[in-house]
Amino acid sequence: MSIFREQVLKGKTAFVTGGGSGIGQGMAERFAQHGAKVMLVGRKQEKLDVAAAVIRSKGGVAATHATDVRDYNGVAAALQSTRDQFGEIDILVCGAAGNFPSPVLGMSANGFKAVIDIDLLGTFNTCRAAYEHLRKPGASVIAISASFAFQPTALQAHVGAAKAGIDILIKTLAIEWGPSGVRCNCITPGPTDETEGMRRLAPDDQARARVERSVPLRRFGTKDELADLALFLGSDAASYITGGIYLCDGGMSLSRPSEWLAH
Ligand code: COA
Repeated sequence: MSIFREQVLKGKTAFVTGGGSGIGQGMAERFAQHGAKVMLVGRKQEKLDVAAAVIRSKGGVAATHATDVRDYNGVAAALQSTRDQFGEIDILVCGAAGNFPSPVLGMSANGFKAVIDIDLLGTFNTCRAAYEHLRKPGASVIAISASFAFQPTALQAHVGAAKAGIDILIKTLAIEWGPSGVRCNCITPGPTDETEGMRRLAPDDQARARVERSVPLRRFGTKDELADLALFLGSDAASYITGGIYLCDGGMSLSRPSEWLAH
């Protein structure tokens, strides 16, 4: 059950990249549940349609726009469409991400670049293009990071480099956009159930058990737990919170430098 008033986001608009599945979808659903109109953005229209239908079946308001966050003009068009349909944007979630487990020697320059482009450039594109559409003051920008940003993790050099870039990008935006009343924060998930990322990183029971052992709370997190944090950061309850990296990882980042993927 949510600790928030039912319609705490009434009258607000949320734009969520990666909103067609996983963590982004969970956040979009939670925003809609609390009264926000949501725009779901992702590469695959079919996934967006399913996610939007779920929101509408629960009485929420959702629209979709298929584009790749690597395409600046595509993101800009999605933002304009959101503005046209729903008005100024109150909550921006940069959740689109790519991942595959691989040692550095197993990936080509293009493989490394693909993840940097989706995660880091995609977050830049989304924030940069969104600024003119954000409600000022009052907007909340939330980027999805990872503990790999500050805890080097075997098989995740590309993601760690991209997420470290996202952390410093968002902190810099907090400084540059603070005077306009735009708050910018990161959420750092741990291993989260029912996500494409964890299906790739922990594909079998043995791998799952290894991950669970590395988490002080000894379990995977849920999309709902991340959605609750996003709801808080997106709401006016977090009105003096900016420039932060918020962990929702069961304490995983307290473990020793991580090699859990490598064994
Ligand atoms: N190991 C090593 N290299 C890999 C790889 C793997 N498992 N999977 C993809 N790559 C490489 C490809 O070989 C290619 O490099 P090359 O041109 O030198 O051969 C490069 O990555 C780009 O692959 P491509 O499939 O063309 O890229 P894409 O832009 O369509 O896909 C990815 C992006 C690679 C991140 C892909 O894994 C993806 O789309 N994932 C879906 C979303 C996701 O990962 N969600 C989880 C988020 S946590």
